[in-house]
Amino acid sequence: MRIVDMRSDTITQPTPAMRKAMSEAKVGDDVFGEDPTVNRLEEMVAERLGKEAALFVASGTMANLVSQLTHCGRGDEMILGDQSHMFVYEQGGCAALGSIHPCSLENKPDGTMALADIEAAIRPDDVHFPRTKLIVLENTHNRCSGSPLNVGYMHSVAELARCYGLKLHVDGARLFNATTALGVDAKDLVAQADSVSICLSKGLAAPVGSVVSGSTDFISKARRNRKVVGGGMRQAGILAAAGIVALTEMVDRLADDHKNAGKLAQGLANMEGLSIDPDLVSTNIVFVDVTKKSITSQILAQRLHNRGIRLLSIGPNRLRAVTNYHVTSSDIDYTLDIFIEVLKES
Ligand SMILES: Cc1ncc(COP(=O)(O)O)c(C=O)c1O
Repeated sequence: MRIVDMRSDTITQPTPAMRKAMSEAKVGDDVFGEDPTVNRLEEMVAERLGKEAALFVASGTMANLVSQLTHCGRGDEMILGDQSHMFVYEQGGCAALGSIHPCSLENKPDGTMALADIEAAIRPDDVHFPRTKLIVLENTHNRCSGSPLNVGYMHSVAELARCYGLKLHVDGARLFNATTALGVDAKDLVAQADSVSICLSKGLAAPVGSVVSGSTDFISKARRNRKVVGGGMRQAGILAAAGIVALTEMVDRLADDHKNAGKLAQGLANMEGLSIDPDLVSTNIVFVDVTKKSITSQILAQRLHNRGIRLLSIGPNRLRAVTNYHVTSSDIDYTLDIFIEVLKES
C-alpha cells in the first residue's frame, strides 16, 4: 500500500549524505569540549544566527529547558503564548525542574501575542509578585498553523523586552521554515533575541539534535545547565555530523514542503465536510477541522490511515498534517483523492 506519512516532520529519515557523514565523523569527548564535529556545528549555527556562541543539545525540549534555566531563577516569571509548545507540550518543565512561573497569554491565530497584552503582563516591582525575567516567542508557531512571525513583530517584542530589562528567547524549532516563508535572513529575524533554539531533527531531517545560540556568557552558563539535566553527550559528533548536513543541504528544500502544504490546504478547502482557511498556511503545517457530523477527526484519521494516509488527530474535530522531506507533490494529489473517497464513504 502507498504510504504518505504527514503526522509530523519529525518522522523524517536521515539522508544518505547524513549517514555517510555520521560514519566518517571525527569525534572526541564533547563534555571536555573536544569533539571537533560538535564544535564545528556549534560554530556554524552561531555564525548563521549572528550570535557569539552555540550549544548542541539532545532535543528541542532540552534546548528550551536549558534556555529557561539559564535566563530565570527560582520564582522568576516568564511570559509565553498559551498555544506555545513550551507551555502546552513540555510537561511544564520550567515549573517542574526550574521553579519558574509561567504567565501564559493568548496566542492569536497568527502565533503572535498582542504587544499590549505582553506589556500589561510585565510585573512591577512589588513584594506580592514574581519577577518577570523572560519573554518567549515561537517561530514558526506550531499550533498556530505553523505561522511565521515576521521581522517587524520580532523586533517590536525585543524592543519591549529591552525597555523593561527582560530577556527574549525564541523557540525556533522551525526557524528555517520561517526564514524560507518570509524570505529573510535568519540573522535579521533573531537579531535582538538573547537566545534562540533551532531543531535539526524536524524538517531538516537529521536523526537527533537541536542547538541553542546566544552570547558567549549565556552559552557557558547554558553548558552547565545542559550537564545538570543529563545532556552531556560525549562523542556526540556522530550526531552533529548529520546536523551539519541538515544545515548545509536541507534548508533550501523547505520551500517544497511549503508548496506541498499550500496545495494540500487548497485541495481540502474545496471539500464538503471539512473546514480550513488555506490563507493561514504559509509553511509546512496544515490544520483542518472536520465539520461532517457523522465522524470525528479520530475516526477520519483512522480511515485515512487504513488507506495509507497518516495524519494526526489533535482534538475531537481537528486533524494536523505536516509536509516533509518524504512527501512529494504527487503524494498530495493522492492524499486528496483518498480524502474524497473516505469522506464519501463516511
Ligand atoms: C515549536 C516546537 N518547539 C519545541 C519542540 C520540541 O522538540 P523535541 O521533540 O525535539 O523535544 C517541538 C516539537 O515538535 C516544537 O514543535
